[in-house]
Amino acid sequence: MDWGKANRISKVIKQDGNCFYLAMDHGYFQGPTSKLENVGKAALPLLEFVDALFVSRGVLRSQIPPTIETPIILRVSGGTSMSGGDLSHEGITTSIDEMLRLNVSAIGISVFVGSEYEHDSILNLAQLVNWCEPYGIPVMAVTAVGREMEKREARYLAMACRICAETGASVVKTYYCENFDKVAIGCPVPVVIAGGPKTENDFEVIEFVYKGIQGGAIGVNLGRNIWQNERPRAMACALRSVIHERHNPKQAFEVYESFER
Ligand code: 5RP
Repeated sequence: MDWGKANRISKVIKQDGNCFYLAMDHGYFQGPTSKLENVGKAALPLLEFVDALFVSRGVLRSQIPPTIETPIILRVSGGTSMSGGDLSHEGITTSIDEMLRLNVSAIGISVFVGSEYEHDSILNLAQLVNWCEPYGIPVMAVTAVGREMEKREARYLAMACRICAETGASVVKTYYCENFDKVAIGCPVPVVIAGGPKTENDFEVIEFVYKGIQGGAIGVNLGRNIWQNERPRAMACALRSVIHERHNPKQAFEVYESFER
């Protein structure tokens, strides 16, 4: 691997082989999202716990100070909205010049396997890998399910992850599900898990992150279950202990409970 790509990867996958990404890209198709009305305000108190921040270029330029040390993973797909038609009808929104200008450590694109726009979506990923490889920028493919939450099961996710990896993604983001080890084992590149809508209780999120890592994920790209939590810093600190300190759910929940109020 070229030095540049290896250097970027070392920023987003830490020496222990694990990673903790804070996802705050939701506005790119949802608009203002509860607790994410101002991404900068929501992000800054959490950055000390995470390894990278996942945002779009508009938010990066307008709300994130360029002096932060946290690596950026840039969301570069879009073109749809919650009030429009098919969420899977995305394109690439950002040029390679812009990715380089923003000095990002990696980029992220959604891939909608099994959707009406599957073909375009997979070719968007291929195109992006073709643009990024010569410059050593790692691509994270996001296995998106749109509104079809029933797709969050091992058979579908294993297929989606494998296709993303075969198309050239350096990392694949997917969901935790039952039999998650089948998803991770079938994917030849590292897998990280997202959270989805906020869980009913705080222990649940700590537990699924733990189980995901036990099942073969190297970390998380998590959003709502952190910044929609009543105590986002406590949750970020607890999840960091699962990801980087090998805490079990009980130990991590103690971190959450005992975090400064
Ligand atoms: C939105 C995304 C998010 O980055 C991803 O789903 C993680 O966020 P959450 O944990 O809130 O699901 O790709 O399109």
